[in-house]
Amino acid sequence: MNNQPKATEKDYSIYFQPPSLKEAKKRGKEEVKVHYDFSIPESLKGFGEGKFYMIRTYGCQMNEHDTETMKGMLDLMGFQSTEDKLEADVILLNTCAIRENAEDKVFGELGHLKSLKAEKPSLILGVCGCMSQEEAVVNRIMQKHPFVDMIFGTHNIHRLPNLLQDATFSKEMVVEVWSKEGDIIENLPKRREGVRAWVNIMYGCDKFCTYCIVPYTRGKERSRRPQDVLAEVRDLARKGFQEITLLGQNVNAYGKDFEDIEYSFGDLMNDIHKIDIPRVRFTTSHPRDFDDHLIKVLSQKGNLMEHIHLPVQSGSSQILKKMSRKYTREGYLELVRKIREAIPDVVLTTDIIVGFPGETDEQFEETMSLVKEVGFDSAFTFIYSPREGTPAAAMKDDVPESVKKERLYRLNELMTELSKKSNDKLLGQVVEVLVEGESKTNPDVLSARTRTNKLVHFAGTRDLIGKRVHVRVVETQTWLVKGELVPDSVRTAI
Ligand code: 5AD
Ligand code: SF4
Repeated sequence: MNNQPKATEKDYSIYFQPPSLKEAKKRGKEEVKVHYDFSIPESLKGFGEGKFYMIRTYGCQMNEHDTETMKGMLDLMGFQSTEDKLEADVILLNTCAIRENAEDKVFGELGHLKSLKAEKPSLILGVCGCMSQEEAVVNRIMQKHPFVDMIFGTHNIHRLPNLLQDATFSKEMVVEVWSKEGDIIENLPKRREGVRAWVNIMYGCDKFCTYCIVPYTRGKERSRRPQDVLAEVRDLARKGFQEITLLGQNVNAYGKDFEDIEYSFGDLMNDIHKIDIPRVRFTTSHPRDFDDHLIKVLSQKGNLMEHIHLPVQSGSSQILKKMSRKYTREGYLELVRKIREAIPDVVLTTDIIVGFPGETDEQFEETMSLVKEVGFDSAFTFIYSPREGTPAAAMKDDVPESVKKERLYRLNELMTELSKKSNDKLLGQVVEVLVEGESKTNPDVLSARTRTNKLVHFAGTRDLIGKRVHVRVVETQTWLVKGELVPDSVRTAI
């Protein structure tokens, strides 16, 4: 333990501006610059020679993709990746702040890493991602986990090479968290694996749903230029990727921040529709900005998949108002009606929060009835978790924990039923699937996804990985269907 600095011994090299609700809401006018000149400094290119890194990722796909970017940078610095903590010279925790339990997991992991750091003082421990954007988290790490070497925020990812250098040579904890909305940094390296790739189309969120921390941790909405997104998609197609997922906190707001051109998410999807990449998905949609043009574009299908993740959050218009979602139950149902009219075989999935402050039994029943009415295929369901600094955290919350748990339980039961029912409809049908890899438990079984994103397992050989094939569905379970390969159905390109 001798080498481990005590909290009181450490100074901090800090560039930290905590996110503030007041400041965040003032956003909007300052210009976002796009930078095309990112490169790893020559002096840092061999910095990681002979060393290993491990990145643990929590949270959403945006975070997963940020991890790919960090891996890309570390690879260019000469580091190798490892999944073995004991082998690692650098360990980064890419964190999520969306609910308290996500944060608890990270603090738990830090507790475990403390002894590792004590045994190997040269180990560099870093905390990045959404939790680093919260002042209270940074303070807690500085006070209670002083063995952490570096903390950096979601707008500072491109600074990783320099921060790593600073942390290696400094006795101080290196903290760099910009609450400034962040510019757009193009041409960052990315380490992608497999046949599917994520593509950022925009960053940040301006919606300020009252429960949500994301507008503070990810900054204001800013869209990548269409030509940059399209060039990346073409490049992925050339490299043989079979599926892309366009990423944004609210992809439907894409392009609203352009001052010089009129170009919406529908326009982007229409242009991507013309590119030879077999499958295109997107996440996450906000019902509010989901316009008729987009519905029309999606109805062309082709490489645009008939699956839409459309978070509803609640079926009660009063709760939606308190959440500041800016649509009503009726508005959501009307949107669903329009989508289904244009794309009859569409599969809809959603996110739902139960136990929002003040949610009554009747209001919860409205959520249950909306879920039945829409017939979602699956849903991510959550108990409301207060996030410091958000408006909902200051609302009176008189719903007992036991009631919240009971509501979640009932909702999940309903979702299980709906999911099984929807899978049962596939029985006997032949569906096109993209083979993603071997199943986790049996190497003779392949794991694949339908166009509607349903998980399919079937017996097949490894050479089918990355290909599109047809399978006949022979058995259905709640979260999985089992199929048989239809011979002579292998397709590799559109
Ligand atoms: N508590 C519970 N769930 C939340 N989500 C976002 N913020 C909270 C919160 N404070 C859920 C929403 C969102 C999903 C990504 O996480 O349903 O769509
Ligand atoms: Fe978690 Fe939201 Fe950050 Fe994703 S953007 S990592 S869900 S807090």
